[in-house]
Amino acid sequence: MTSHLDTEVIFIRALRVPPRRRVLSRPKHPHGRSGRIAAHPVDISFHPLKRLSVQAQGPAHMRITKAPEVDYPGISLRQLERTDIPQWYAYLSKQHVVQHTSWNLSSESDLLPMFDAIDSTLFTSIRRLAIIDGVNDNMIGTIGLHSISEANKSAEVAYDLAPEFWGKGIASAVCSAFTQWAFLEYGFIRVQGTVLETNLGSAKVLRNSGFQFEGRLRSFRIVRTKPGNFDMYARLSTD
Ligand SMILES: CC(C)(COP(=O)(O)OP(=O)(O)OC[C@H]1O[C@@H](n2cnc3c(N)ncnc32)[C@H](O)[C@@H]1OP(=O)(O)O)[C@@H](O)C(=O)NCCC(=O)NCCS
Repeated sequence: MTSHLDTEVIFIRALRVPPRRRVLSRPKHPHGRSGRIAAHPVDISFHPLKRLSVQAQGPAHMRITKAPEVDYPGISLRQLERTDIPQWYAYLSKQHVVQHTSWNLSSESDLLPMFDAIDSTLFTSIRRLAIIDGVNDNMIGTIGLHSISEANKSAEVAYDLAPEFWGKGIASAVCSAFTQWAFLEYGFIRVQGTVLETNLGSAKVLRNSGFQFEGRLRSFRIVRTKPGNFDMYARLSTD
């Protein structure tokens, strides 16, 4: 008898993106010395939709084995692991870090369900990468995707950074590179970002990363028991 795991169909998609695309990133020095805004041409070749049927070696999952490179000195990305939870929670438990987000955590274990989702085999499962500071190999932030729609070829980006690293251009460089990669890796035509109306820093990160403001979503998400207004930003693969 053949189980659904025996023949697993994997879709590999890539999109045509105009070669004139220039992605803004802001490589500043990792520890505070500012740099210049740089525009980097991205050469993206067109690959037609391919459908590859393989005999599954084991369950496919939504872990990312080859993370995109980030154009920022000393900063890299890798799959977020359960062992990162203490480091992640250490800053997510700070009120001033989450005040402009819908995070509502009480303990490290509240983060565990995310890792079950990362290990899922569903295309619509969340993805999450750790942001690594090369100086000491420390995890200093995360970036990932949720609200993934296979039918609409769209997803929402989410990220966070330990407060010691704010204001250095790291989030903008990471978000820009990650979004560009997501278009190619998953064939998305739209990646959106929603920010609480008071989260001016995150809104700037999205604008720095080529996202356009599309409007305000009233009472869009519950923010620790109260409905919050969120601003919708999006970047298209054709932008
Ligand atoms: C949002 C966050 C990721 C930004 O990280 P970062 O590395 O400081 O971002 P960057 O340095 O790339 O850019 C931040 C920009 O916002 C600006 N900014 C920051 N706070 C601001 C504020 N209160 N008002 C206006 N602009 C602000 C910075 O000056 C900078 O602008 P610039 O590009 O013109 O220099 C970080 O603050 C964070 O992790 N916050 C907590 C979690 C969070 O809010 N996640 C996003 C949820 S939607």
